[in-house]
Amino acid sequence: MKKDFLTLRDYDGQTLKDIIKLALKFKSDRPNFGSDFLKNKKVALIFEKSSTRTRVSFEVGVFEMGGYPLFLSKNDIQLGRGETIEDTSRTLSRYVDMIMIRTFEHAKAEKLAKFSSIPVINGLTDEFHPCQVMADMMTIYERFGSYNIKMAYIGDGNNMAHSLMLGSAKLGVNFSIATPKNYEPNIDIFNIAKEIANKNNAEMTITSDPFEAVKGADVIYTDVWTSMGMEAENEIRLKAFKDYQVNSRLISATGKKTYFMHCLPAHRGEEVSDDVIESENSIVFDEAENRLHAQKAIMTYLIKNGDIGGLI
Ligand code: CP
Ligand code: NVA
Repeated sequence: MKKDFLTLRDYDGQTLKDIIKLALKFKSDRPNFGSDFLKNKKVALIFEKSSTRTRVSFEVGVFEMGGYPLFLSKNDIQLGRGETIEDTSRTLSRYVDMIMIRTFEHAKAEKLAKFSSIPVINGLTDEFHPCQVMADMMTIYERFGSYNIKMAYIGDGNNMAHSLMLGSAKLGVNFSIATPKNYEPNIDIFNIAKEIANKNNAEMTITSDPFEAVKGADVIYTDVWTSMGMEAENEIRLKAFKDYQVNSRLISATGKKTYFMHCLPAHRGEEVSDDVIESENSIVFDEAENRLHAQKAIMTYLIKNGDIGGLI
C-alpha cells in the first residue's frame, strides 16, 4: 500500500479498478455514502497554479465526507515566500490528516510526500494529472461498461497525455497518441506505459498523424495546447498545433460513434471546435462531475490504508 497518490504508475490496475468502483458508489448514493469517512479530518489543499474543478471538487468532496478542507494558495502561505517544501511538509503534517498539492515540477510533489507523515495527493504537476484520469476512466466505464475500448489522444504530449497513457495501460484501454514533432510525450513514460499495456493485451501507439491515430477510436481526447506555466510559448504553439484541432472532420474519420473528452478548461477554436465540444457525444461535464466522486474514493483509499474491500 502506497502512502501517497502521486502517479498512476505506482498503482496496479486492480487497485485502480477498485477505486473507480468505490467512486461509482459515491456517485450513486450522494451525499449519504461515506458522509463520515473523513469525520473530524482536515485536508490541506495547496495550489501553486489556478484551478476551478480541482479546487471545488476537493473542497466539496472533503465537506461531504464530514471533513474540513483548507484552501492554501501559494500567495497566502510562506511557501510562496521561499519557505522550503520540506519545512512546509513537516509543519502541515502536525496539523492536518492529508495534503493535496497542485504545483510545477513533479519532484516538488514527491518531496512534499517524502517529508510528510500523512498521505499526499497530486492535484496536477507539469508531468502528471492522475486524479483527472481516474475521473476519465470512471466516465469511460460508465459509458461502455468496460475498459476494452480505444482512446485516441490528439495534441500536446503533456501531463494529461502522460497520465492517460499510464491509466490506459494499467486498465487495458487501447491508446493512440498523435502529437506534432517536438511536442511528443516523455519517451521514457511512453515506453513504460507501452510495456504495461503489452502485459494487459492493450495497444499503445504514437504517431504525428491525427487521422491515423483516430482510426477506430471510441473516444477522442484532447487538452489545451498551452498548459499552465507555458504561456510564454503560446504564439509558437498555436502555429505548431494548428493541424491538430479536434473538429467534426477528425471525429468522422474514426468511422464509428465517437465520444469527445477533455479535462477542461477548453480553448474553443484551438484544440477543439465549438460544435464538437457542444455535440451530443461530448461527455466533458460527466468527466468534470466525476472528479468529485473519484477523489472521494481516492481519499477514502488513502485514509483507510487501502482497506476498501468491504466497501465495494
Ligand atoms: N481539469 C482540471 O484539473 O481543471 P482545473 O484546472 O479547473 O482544476
Ligand atoms: N495540461 C493542462 C491541464 C489543465 C487541467 C495544464 O497543465 O494546464
